[in-house]
Amino acid sequence: METKIYDASTIDEAAELLRTGELVAFPTETVYGLGAIACDDEAVKNVYKVKGRPSDNPLIVHVADREIAQYVAYVPEQAEALMEAFWPGPLTLIFPMKEGVFAPTVTAGHQTVALRMPAQTQTLELIRKTGFPLVGPSANTSGKPSPTTAQHVLHDLSGKIAGILDGGETRIGLESTVLDLTNTDGPVILRPGAITEVELEPIIGKLAGSAHPADEKTAPKAPGMKYQHYAPAQPVILIDGAAADWEAAIEAYRGKGDKIGLLASEELVAVHQDAAEAVYSLGPKMDVAAASQRLYAGLRYLDEQPVDVILAEAYDAAGIGEAYMNRLEKAASAKYPKK
Ligand code: TXA
Ligand code: MG
Repeated sequence: METKIYDASTIDEAAELLRTGELVAFPTETVYGLGAIACDDEAVKNVYKVKGRPSDNPLIVHVADREIAQYVAYVPEQAEALMEAFWPGPLTLIFPMKEGVFAPTVTAGHQTVALRMPAQTQTLELIRKTGFPLVGPSANTSGKPSPTTAQHVLHDLSGKIAGILDGGETRIGLESTVLDLTNTDGPVILRPGAITEVELEPIIGKLAGSAHPADEKTAPKAPGMKYQHYAPAQPVILIDGAAADWEAAIEAYRGKGDKIGLLASEELVAVHQDAAEAVYSLGPKMDVAAASQRLYAGLRYLDEQPVDVILAEAYDAAGIGEAYMNRLEKAASAKYPKK
């Protein structure tokens, strides 16, 4: 099939495709999602199929407003306050599931369901015009970096899906924070994102846990977080060190005859670009939001370059930096220097 591109002026046509059971990717403020009507079992099964997604990894349902009582077994008190504060926005909430609302494959055997209201006008309009909530896993091939442009979606899924609603580059660039409200000990972050503990705790009090990279071994995880993720074809080495560590790492790989791809701040790129075969700048070192917004585009760019290894720069894991480091640690096969 030919994958058609839609924009703000042709949302009606994209909605019509969804209503006939087709898949249409849509932009959000985080990454592009792969849309299908969440009540259509055939369409949802097709989402797993075209992504190559493991069948035990549940999907997020995207809604166009805060009227969610109809979709879940009950709305915990904290959810009302969180929706008020952060929806539309990059916060996915996990609710107790209500039987028979969504296609069984949406929740992949879990007794809970993930909901999110994205902050993207065209996509909210698409959901409203379709008339049903839409599933929206990231619109990439499973295992690859999530798409932050319509071109990334085409690269992975061209010919496999009916359409893409093109909203340009995504603003945040990393997937939403996933917060579990069904845990008996209290709310837990299953996946870090743009909305962090620091913003959540004033609204709902102390969290019972967080998937901070530092607690990787003990932290609870979203089912999807156990899989290899965000990875280009070449090994990614996470460099978490000072100037001397960068010099040593570059020396070591060059010594082996490896062609180096550099994914780093503009300051580091300026110093080391002559030693690299290809570079992708993440912007100024002080701007971790810019680095987060560019991370997946950079991994995808370097994936296509004739390099043997990708050296990627660590950032301070505060604010959105926590999500940046979480994704980069998952993409990386090793760290340098080893700690
Ligand atoms: O920003 C985002 O969340 C993007 C955009 C498109 O909205 N979507 C996204 O979807 O990242 P996906 O499918 O790539 O990631 C969903 C994550 C997975 O780690 C999955 O395991 C988790 O959410 N998840 C979904 N339903 C869950 C549930 N019922 N319980 C626990 N985790 C769940
Ligand atoms: Mg994903």
